Amino acid sequence: MSRTAKLTFEGREIELPVEESTEGELAVDVSKLRDAMGMVTLDQSLANTAICRSEITFIDGDQGILRYRGIPIEQLVDRPNFVEIAWLLIFGHLPNRDELAAFSENLSNNQLLHEGLRHQFQHIPVDAPPMAILSAMLNNLACFHQELLSVDDTEQFAHAAARLISKVRTIAAFSYRRSRGLPIIHPDPALRYCANFLHMMFSVPYRHYVIDPEIEDALNLIFILHADHEQNCSTATVRTVGSARANLFASCAAGVCALWGPLHGGANVEVVRMLEEIAAGGLQPEECIRMAKDKQSNFRLYGFGHRVYKNYDPRAKILRDVCDRVFTRIQVRDPLLDIARKLEELALADSYFVDRKLYPNVDFYSGILLRAMGIPTNMFTVCFAIGRLPGWIAHWKEQHDDPASRIIRPRQVYIGVKQTDYAPMNER
Ligand code: CMC
Repeated sequence: MSRTAKLTFEGREIELPVEESTEGELAVDVSKLRDAMGMVTLDQSLANTAICRSEITFIDGDQGILRYRGIPIEQLVDRPNFVEIAWLLIFGHLPNRDELAAFSENLSNNQLLHEGLRHQFQHIPVDAPPMAILSAMLNNLACFHQELLSVDDTEQFAHAAARLISKVRTIAAFSYRRSRGLPIIHPDPALRYCANFLHMMFSVPYRHYVIDPEIEDALNLIFILHADHEQNCSTATVRTVGSARANLFASCAAGVCALWGPLHGGANVEVVRMLEEIAAGGLQPEECIRMAKDKQSNFRLYGFGHRVYKNYDPRAKILRDVCDRVFTRIQVRDPLLDIARKLEELALADSYFVDRKLYPNVDFYSGILLRAMGIPTNMFTVCFAIGRLPGWIAHWKEQHDDPASRIIRPRQVYIGVKQTDYAPMNER
């Protein structure tokens, strides 16, 4: 039996369809409200609005649950590799041996950049923000792969997806090499996805970087934990751009721009900057907590709080434990980890954070782990983007294939002046 919710307003009434998600969450469908009642819904920042139906990722923010295509994130920690998870998210099921081999080969065949694109790195200022480079270069892929601007069949789409997932590493590593004035290191098709990225980042022409399996595994885990997170700001951006039928390259480039912001993926940079300041003695952990609570201050405790999680972010929990394991195994000691733990302890004992249900999010511990791999702070959000790319692609595809999807075009409540007349310059 179909369920409805009644809305009454000034003597008029409408029954709105109520839809239930697989996990039992209810959604009131207001799409016909304006036609029937002449009113729109106001939901500032879309905090309580579902913009689509999706089968990709499930989050229960109250309980701290995250699942990719139904699989709990905790089950993805030790076993699979990132490429497998990318496939899972994009194509909806775990790949069999042949599918994974074919996809991996597709990635290997596409890891080089077109020479025209590679030459563009020479004209970018050495101190350019890597996220600006990444967004520009992903968009630029559209210039060099024009045959993939419209993807009409699954094979074409798989080529476009493989190009993005493979080349994003090459672009990221080249931007780092450029910033250091180091020669570019080309990808090595014999290496696995994460090892290849580390090779392009850290090898030199006369000496191959020795890849520590512990570091490779940790990077693989970081990419998996970032691979999708349903309708976050950057994914919603990718969907919005894609809803205008913009191509996959342009849509993902827009996702990078959204991710760059410090309230989103850029938070991993802010966390480490804050921890470094504390380590240098410029700031005390107690002072951070005090400032974060002060509404007159612009300070935020980066790496804390989340729109959806009102509990510990399961990704942060995994990363916190992995930090310990990796640091012990590679025999690194980073004072920033102790400071982070101290901050977490102070925050979780403070009523401001407890009452607002503010817990560590994925960005709180990821930077500390990336630092241990030798990845510089300004590349942290780029690493987030490499991890998130399969999620963006999966959402772009889901929307592209959904016959019910329309251009995303929200409404507004206009609060500007009523009609007024144009005044000539001499009358103003
Ligand atoms: N430090 C201090 N106060 C905070 C924080 C924080 N990190 N986060 C939220 N609050 C306060 C906020 O001021 C508000 O207080 P009040 O009720 O007194 O007005 C209350 O908690 C509710 O927060 P909100 O602003 O309604 O939360 P939101 O859903 O709009 O924003 C957020 C979510 C993630 C942008 C926010 O928590 C934040 O700015 N956190 C720091 C940045 C960060 O770590 N971002 C990464 C998010 S997770 C991964 C990702 O998406 O990239």
